[in-house]
Amino acid sequence: MPLIASTVPLPDPARQLLAEVGVVRGPERWEESLGEAEALIPVLSKQVDAALLDRAPRLRIVACPTVGYDYVDLDACRERGIIVTHTPDVLTDATADLAWALLLATVRRLPQAEASLRGGEFQGWRFRDYLGGDITGATLGIFGMGRIGQAVARRAAPFGMRVQYTSRTRISDAEERALGAEWVEWETLLTTSDVLSLHAPLTPETRHLLDPNSLRRMKTGSYLINTARGALVDEAALVEVLRSGPLAGAGLDVYEHEPEVTPGLLELDNAVLLPHIGSATRGTRMNMAMLAARNIHRVLSGELPLTPVM
Ligand code: DGY
Repeated sequence: MPLIASTVPLPDPARQLLAEVGVVRGPERWEESLGEAEALIPVLSKQVDAALLDRAPRLRIVACPTVGYDYVDLDACRERGIIVTHTPDVLTDATADLAWALLLATVRRLPQAEASLRGGEFQGWRFRDYLGGDITGATLGIFGMGRIGQAVARRAAPFGMRVQYTSRTRISDAEERALGAEWVEWETLLTTSDVLSLHAPLTPETRHLLDPNSLRRMKTGSYLINTARGALVDEAALVEVLRSGPLAGAGLDVYEHEPEVTPGLLELDNAVLLPHIGSATRGTRMNMAMLAARNIHRVLSGELPLTPVM
């Protein structure tokens, strides 16, 4: 039976499905199984590069249990004839929900207020305590109008936010109308959004999209929300604009050098920091594992995968 190396602990239904076509090893033993493995379920904290692939000469499929696949060297896989798959759609709503939770928590300063209460500082209702920003009537800027960007836009109307966006590809007029979203140039998005939320994949073009120069041009008093990939933002420069403006705050679920977080960020009172939990719901993680398992099942059975990257 083919060996399937998994860096992540798989739920029982995924293991059962995979047991029909192979033997699952991991997560403690995935690395020692690489030499024999015909399928790999990687994890985004470990690069799947040429050096790793050279240790896995029998590999036929790398089945990412994530929608993002920036941690996989696609060229190196292509050269070796290895199929790469990912998990689009199944995590869209969970990630959009989390982006909104983070947006609201950041603008209304929820973690700071809760920490204050737990610290015994709550003195009853006071007129000027715990003030945050305004949501209703504010402009939400979305960078990246793919599945997750659209799901975030769809949630904006009940909060009374106006939506504008910039994306690699413009969506159709009908889709724009349905979402109530207006296409704008990057410069407009950057300089006029009250909240800028990032939903683009990490590519050479988007790395440090928010560099020191663009961060300094963001609207005064605005907020940055990042649930996409940390390296879209120059994290050291972000610390500076959170310290001295123009940003009022940032909500981050992802970091440039995960699991490390730039120390300056940890000291800031206007940063809300989550440990990359965008897709972390029980149902979503089950669906992500099942889709990765289905892709492997098909490839090891000689069929085409359901959700190939290439
Ligand atoms: C992804 O799927 O790429 C997320 O970052 C993890 O849920």
